[in-house]
Amino acid sequence: MKPLILAAPADSETATGPYLAEHLDAELAEVTVRTFPDGEVYVRIDSDVEGRDVVIVSTLHRPSESLLPVLLLANTARDLKARRVGLVAPYLSYMRQDERFRPGEGVTSIYFAKLLCSAVDWLITVDPHLHRWSSLDEIYTIPSKVVPAAPHIAEWITSNVSDPILVGPDSESEQWVSAVAKAAGAPFVILEKIRHGDRDVNITAPSLAEYGGRQPILIDDIVSTARTMIEAIGLLAKAGLGAPTCIGVHGVFAAGAYEDLLAAGAERVVTANTIAHKSNEIDVRASIVKTLAETLEAL
Ligand code: R5P
Repeated sequence: MKPLILAAPADSETATGPYLAEHLDAELAEVTVRTFPDGEVYVRIDSDVEGRDVVIVSTLHRPSESLLPVLLLANTARDLKARRVGLVAPYLSYMRQDERFRPGEGVTSIYFAKLLCSAVDWLITVDPHLHRWSSLDEIYTIPSKVVPAAPHIAEWITSNVSDPILVGPDSESEQWVSAVAKAAGAPFVILEKIRHGDRDVNITAPSLAEYGGRQPILIDDIVSTARTMIEAIGLLAKAGLGAPTCIGVHGVFAAGAYEDLLAAGAERVVTANTIAHKSNEIDVRASIVKTLAETLEAL
């Protein structure tokens, strides 16, 4: 029986679910998810579920809204006797609270992982924020696969920018920036960041003199308040480099952040389509298709 793709409400804008169904030998399920007048969520799957591999597709941006439909859909699919239920989450949230930074804080990356692991049998995501956790396996007890956005970012750079110098704003960005640099055949440099608060970051840099004349491209996995990129833009300007193109894998964009980033001097802001945004110029769905096909094959 063909796998059944369930596009959760949060998938409506990027339409990753329909794309996966179209590019795999899979069926896009008839699903109804709506909110009752009291705010509770109603869920119905009108396609045959019994004995089938079910794939729920939902970005987990704005998780307070997007997670519950995923959990309810997964429970419904299990209840209707799905063979296995997996989740394709192009953006996996809650990865940044990976430590108890202050006494009494919750290490919510662990609790979020536990919630998902209780509901689904496997997980595919694009570039999760791995910093203090070196792999999803440290907190996710279900099998997971990571789809790298680097080849798609490198392709975008190769087609749009000549003589780039890739810049990562902090040490953890090196994993993504170095992969893009390798694929694009471009040099890269990593800055150093200290975060003092949600919107208060401080960035320092090694000498950038040797990169004068090249086009700077700032690359980070997440752009949220954009303070990291804005601080880095100031530093690049002081170093005599031009206005950078800012590339984020996941354009989370807190209120006003995108506009602030442009106002701070970004020449262009580009993101992957793991979260729907007008800056989505990098389409990673072909790589998700490939990873999903391999996963379904192995089940
Ligand atoms: C964390 O280190 C991430 O890689 C990003 O640098 C961070 O999430 C960006 O956040 P913001 O846009 O709020 O500075």
